[in-house]
Amino acid sequence: MDKFHELQQKIATAIIGGGEARISSQHKKGKLTARERLQLLLDEGSFEELDMFVHNRNRGMTTDQEQFPGDGVVTGYGTVNGRLVYVFSQDFTVYGGSLSEPHARKICKIMDLAMQNGAPVIGLNDSGGARIQEGVVSLGGYADIFYRNTRASGVIPQISAIMGPCAGGAVYSPAITDFILMVEETSYMFVTGPNVVKTVTHEEVTSEELGGAHTHATKSGVTHFSCGNEVECIRNIRQLLSYMPQNCEEDAPIYPYEGTDEIRPALNTIIPPSSSHPYDMKDVISELTDTDSFLEVHKDFAENIIVGFARIAGRSIGIVANQPAHLAGVLDIHASVKGARFTRFCDAFNIPLLVLVDVPGFLPGTDQEWNGIITNGAKLLFALSEATVPKITVTTRKAYGGAYCVMNSKHIGADLNFAFPQAEIAVMGPKGAVEIIYKREIDAAPDREARMNELVAEYTERFANPYLAAEKGYIDEVIVPDQTRIKLIKGYAMLENKVVSMPRKKHGNIPL
Ligand code: COA
Repeated sequence: MDKFHELQQKIATAIIGGGEARISSQHKKGKLTARERLQLLLDEGSFEELDMFVHNRNRGMTTDQEQFPGDGVVTGYGTVNGRLVYVFSQDFTVYGGSLSEPHARKICKIMDLAMQNGAPVIGLNDSGGARIQEGVVSLGGYADIFYRNTRASGVIPQISAIMGPCAGGAVYSPAITDFILMVEETSYMFVTGPNVVKTVTHEEVTSEELGGAHTHATKSGVTHFSCGNEVECIRNIRQLLSYMPQNCEEDAPIYPYEGTDEIRPALNTIIPPSSSHPYDMKDVISELTDTDSFLEVHKDFAENIIVGFARIAGRSIGIVANQPAHLAGVLDIHASVKGARFTRFCDAFNIPLLVLVDVPGFLPGTDQEWNGIITNGAKLLFALSEATVPKITVTTRKAYGGAYCVMNSKHIGADLNFAFPQAEIAVMGPKGAVEIIYKREIDAAPDREARMNELVAEYTERFANPYLAAEKGYIDEVIVPDQTRIKLIKGYAMLENKVVSMPRKKHGNIPL
């Protein structure tokens, strides 16, 4: 046979993976194939495939197993918006995308290349887990991947999309990566499936309830994005990459921006006159950031804190913001962990931080205390303290108690701290404070309530403002809100060449 023809035939066989019947069954489930997904993800014509002919010969329980070139995963490199990325896409039509030793070796190869050449790795996961016929060898393959995920953490961005099953040990590679995206209805992640759950705990639960996209987006926080379908999921990956540098040595790309009028009058009226009325911090974010540039991460989890990427005058920033529209913006365990993890990503990849503060304090209660709000709240404090990227804080309203310290205060290394004139920066809210410090006086008063109201008004006047902090230099400037965007643009430009040297250490010991 003509050698070129032979090659074409081999390629044609590899491209159809597990065959037409299995491809059509994949489509019937509302899922795309591994190659169709890569086509959507990568710039047209940019994909270069590696290891197309890797086989899994003579392995496992039987030698007469059907052989598929590529062995259930398509790997290689290409570009997204013109920037290099490494990819692997598991092919469910070949042994359910299950992971054999050669399948793992292919993934490891592109991870090694990504580390060596400093570019992100994107994994599209759709797999029945360890290749059962192979036994422990496939478990070794998983561990090889986990080890590389860990070594690559903080060096290159790693993104995992879950587009089908992801169960057992398979979950731990995505879990170590920086971002997880799940597709609603067609993907699930769990350590043990509904059958094992039923045997062990007698709970009846479906796969979707136990580990579907909605569950992980709202209850566990395992996924950062829950996407309506695969196309939306891939669009999100492309957008997510646009905020990031290629590796920890570089800066994020700068987008063209030609703004002229940076005054934002709406900011003067967003904060309600009464400090107990809620407002939506996302309205503040959209006034401060470039039009349509905000990409919220963990949108449906711990909504009392908002995290996400945006651009200001074309430059990437990471935002961590209290959300007064949800639980008054209080800090609790989930919010602290969510904010901490996002902060650490931004710091690892040179993305400056913007912290917007309107926080009444930490959430009280036995549930929080017994589940470790001390350790978990400390995560956010630790993450913001250790971050060396440019850090700017805007206090829009409340900053009370320990939460004042935690939310990127001057004391933990913020470079610029602005406050709106409505800001209330104090040890505690007026009512709580008065009840403690004037307890005897209030008890002795003929009209307790009237005296209490007088003292609250007095305290509010004296302490619930930004000026005591500004007198100490803890707030660099009290600003008219409509000026905030200008202040941020100038501030980030001023901090562009920030250099901080940390004490020599192996690594810190963040309270886990
Ligand atoms: N190892 C080897 N082959 C596997 C596999 C695995 N872990 N998981 C699935 N497959 C194969 C199936 O044998 C089937 O092969 P075929 O196309 O030749 O018939 C194909 O993949 C599709 O699997 P199927 O069960 O028909 O698909 P489904 O959509 O109905 O169910 C799963 C998908 C993942 C829920 C189901 O296949 C499953 O439970 N797999 C085992 C999961 C597991 O326990 N993994 C090992 C521990 S991590």
